[in-house]
Amino acid sequence: MKNLYIKDLKEGQDFIDFFIVRASGVKIGSNGKKYLDITLGDKTGDLTAKKWDVSPSEEPALEAIKAGDIVKIKASVTVYRDAKQLRITKIRVAVEQDGVDPMHLVKSAPESGEEMYDFIYRKAIEMKDEELRLMSTNILSRNKGKLLYYPAAMRNHHAELAGLLWHMKRMIMHAEVLVTVYPILNRDLLVAGVIFHDIEKMTEIRSNEFGVSDGYSFEGRLLGHLVQGVKVIDELAKELGVSEEKSIMLQHMSISHHYEPEFGSPKKPLFPEAEMLHYLDIMDAKMYDIEEAMSSTEPGEFSDRIWSMDNRTLYRATFGNVDDSNKRED
Ligand SMILES: [Fe+2]
Ligand SMILES: [Fe+2]
Repeated sequence: MKNLYIKDLKEGQDFIDFFIVRASGVKIGSNGKKYLDITLGDKTGDLTAKKWDVSPSEEPALEAIKAGDIVKIKASVTVYRDAKQLRITKIRVAVEQDGVDPMHLVKSAPESGEEMYDFIYRKAIEMKDEELRLMSTNILSRNKGKLLYYPAAMRNHHAELAGLLWHMKRMIMHAEVLVTVYPILNRDLLVAGVIFHDIEKMTEIRSNEFGVSDGYSFEGRLLGHLVQGVKVIDELAKELGVSEEKSIMLQHMSISHHYEPEFGSPKKPLFPEAEMLHYLDIMDAKMYDIEEAMSSTEPGEFSDRIWSMDNRTLYRATFGNVDDSNKRED
């Protein structure tokens, strides 16, 4: 059984426990010796772990460990460059007799996939624009099975069970507020843009049914979800007889939502809803990473470095923190 959670581990602690593997590989260190470089996860987060001085006899078993496996490790907690890390002394893949339920190990969105899907589908049905409604309800219902568990990333923001729906849901919640602040924005177009913008992450990255990804697909590596999104929107619009204007505007929202060419966007946003989609996207991604960092930081302390935020460490206040005052009511 699992006893300890990653967010509670303390420097110097020795322990034996189960984790899910998020990435793993045997590498060669600067001293010429082989070591296991592995990222382990549970409900509460991810952690880098190393097993130094891998011997030739143990190498095949370590090479065989892959993302999605559950492993039992004996390790101690160290700190490297301001971040916790594990030094593993023993590791093996879990067997059925260990009796570990993967659902106790996988990180998942705070709401169930079904609940979030229903919320988003309702927002699609509420669209007054018939063509955008048709496009949105179709893409959702055709992909429902995968959407219920798909993560929105391999690592970093929303890399969790049903993370893609969680990302979409909170972006739609923002969209509905922002269209009242900026009446220039078309609500249906912005919500449709949210639904479509990352939908092709489901073909870009691979995932098991626990939302754990072991990498990118072939098409995902060569095209990426922005371009894959263009293809899907184009085909669906033709099939449903949707006007070229709306089809191309949705395609543009897909290719422009990362904003910068170095992040995969060949065009910057060229209409208001496309511009706003980008802000919703980065806002939700950053706030997700901030929430994660705060949840493993004690009040009055600074967090570990946050990679997606230029390695800043954030301060967690001693008052009105994430655990109490801001809880959502729904
Ligand atoms: Fe994206
Ligand atoms: Fe996104």
